[in-house]
Amino acid sequence: GLVVGSAAAGGGHHEDQPYPDPISSDQAYRDVLGREFSSLSPENQMKWEYVRPTRETYDFAAADAIVDFAAQHGQVVRGHTLLWHSQNPEWLENGNFSAEELRAMLREHIHTVVGRYAGRVQQWDVANEIFDESGTLRTTENIWIRELGPGIIADAFRWAHEADPNAKLFFNDYGVESDNAKSDAYYALIQDLLAQGVPVHGFSAQAHLDLDDGFPADLAQNLRRFADLGLDTAITELDVRMTLPQGGAPTEQQLAEQADFYRRALQACLDVSSCHSFTVWGLPDKYSWVPGTFPDQGAATIYWDDFTPKPAHHALLNTL
Ligand code: XIL
Repeated sequence: GLVVGSAAAGGGHHEDQPYPDPISSDQAYRDVLGREFSSLSPENQMKWEYVRPTRETYDFAAADAIVDFAAQHGQVVRGHTLLWHSQNPEWLENGNFSAEELRAMLREHIHTVVGRYAGRVQQWDVANEIFDESGTLRTTENIWIRELGPGIIADAFRWAHEADPNAKLFFNDYGVESDNAKSDAYYALIQDLLAQGVPVHGFSAQAHLDLDDGFPADLAQNLRRFADLGLDTAITELDVRMTLPQGGAPTEQQLAEQADFYRRALQACLDVSSCHSFTVWGLPDKYSWVPGTFPDQGAATIYWDDFTPKPAHHALLNTL
């Protein structure tokens, strides 16, 4: 069956204002999250920046709150993320560690974090955004690949598998919805890793879509080629942003187009038998990362700020 999920928002920024985690502070948010979704993803709370305040310590409070909420509501969890170029703590990025130290740190981190949630996290985004748009590994931005070489990617999957042999281990990225240079790079890498027996189980498209860019019409077809490698596939961070008119409210036409994008994304997942997990990235718009990241854009989620459903919400329910 299909698991429909949401990111548990928090630790994000909107117009430069940091938010407290709404999962602990907003009862209306908790009600919708608990009632309407069967999977949760921590939007930030399992990232290095949050889990690793210092080299010696772990802080699992915010991540635990999400995993506990999910358990109380019979929901599964997507873990996010272990090896990434972004949202790493400064002590790590600026620490001038030796390759040997970094390797030991990543190994210990993965064993500790994945081990802590073993049996409670269904899917892990082990490696996030390792390729750029041209399909080149991010060898300068990504500290792990830069300092340890591309072989560290296979090791990360092996270590995660050691810590939780039942978790499905994913590559996750944006801009891989279509068959393009970036998704081709994943396809080649994953074929290679599978041939070496590396425990890779899934490929997921974040699907941060923009009305102005048009819908990635070959989404299902692209996911299917990864499915044909024997992998699970997923849509992990769906939102559909738009350039807002003066005044900030989306037009009826934008809302209708947005609903159509959501519907088509869900339909693509339903059309691919290995696509078991479909996640929207945050709710409602007031907690969305979009306005803080993309100037003049917003209204990307399926709920109004008072948690009433937008046309996109109806479109998803009608498609399920
Ligand atoms: C974003 C969060 O939504 C923001 O709150 C945070 O400030 C930055 O990160 N790809 C990913 C996610 O894999 O982790 C990102 O989440 C969005 C893009």
